[in-house]
Amino acid sequence: MTSPTTPATATSGEPLPRVFIVGISGRVGRLLASRLRARGMAVSGLTRSSQQAAVLQADGVTSISGELAHAGTEEIAAMVSDSDIVVFAAGSNAGRPDVTDAIDDAALGRVSKALRGTRTRLILLSVLPEAWRERPLSDEEEHYFAVKKRAEVALTRQPIDWLILRPSLLTDDPGRGTVALGPAELHDEITRDDVAAVLEALVLEPTISRRILELNEGPTAVTEAVGRFARFYQA
Ligand SMILES: NC(=O)c1ccc[n+]([C@@H]2O[C@H](COP(=O)([O-])OP(=O)(O)OC[C@H]3O[C@@H](n4cnc5c(N)ncnc54)[C@H](OP(=O)(O)O)[C@@H]3O)[C@@H](O)[C@H]2O)c1
Repeated sequence: MTSPTTPATATSGEPLPRVFIVGISGRVGRLLASRLRARGMAVSGLTRSSQQAAVLQADGVTSISGELAHAGTEEIAAMVSDSDIVVFAAGSNAGRPDVTDAIDDAALGRVSKALRGTRTRLILLSVLPEAWRERPLSDEEEHYFAVKKRAEVALTRQPIDWLILRPSLLTDDPGRGTVALGPAELHDEITRDDVAAVLEALVLEPTISRRILELNEGPTAVTEAVGRFARFYQA
């Protein structure tokens, strides 16, 4: 494990937030980590494989080895104690129901409890809960959407600084740099790169708190979309 770096500073002289990514080995998690590192920010995350840890270390990311499914609240609190923001980007992706229960629901619950009494922000990468209502879903997908909704409800009841981002269907196409972001958006597709760009902008926009944002492909530049949301809907 590498040691956390001295906090980078923005051109304004304000220290940049230190970010811990749960799910840093995932596709969105990796894209977000590399965007934040490119800004000189201190980024750390939880991994469960030494191979992933080595790749992250080479990218300047501090990694902590652990099994999210088993990490208790106190262990998680210790992991994130040096961080100003936790981004939760882990999950089953509508796969095995036991992983959905263990990661998307229970582990998120423990992460949110670990942040009680702190000023640490928690940004959840969630999903549009009514996605694909017009088509038949597998039992795993039905279970996933129900669990994601329940986990969101539980998070919104936590006395912490939470933020929920609900993207539409994720693709690996090149990012466009433009999106549709608001309190309600249609379900279509969005690239993982654009999702990472929105998460990066939200990390840098602390005034958006205790809100649910929906995200789809669209015509507005990412920073403008996040800035608009901050102006219109900030707490
Ligand atoms: N797929 C979609 O269309 C879609 C749409 C909207 C929202 N989302 C949300 O976006 C999130 C990120 O998507 P993505 O494409 O970046 O996902 P991904 O590439 O599948 O990454 C998932 C992450 O979750 C971790 N994870 C999965 N099972 C785990 C377990 N049992 N224990 C510990 N960690 C576990 C993975 O760790 P390992 O590398 O160790 O496995 C990985 O870091 C999803 O979880 C989902 O909630 C997805």
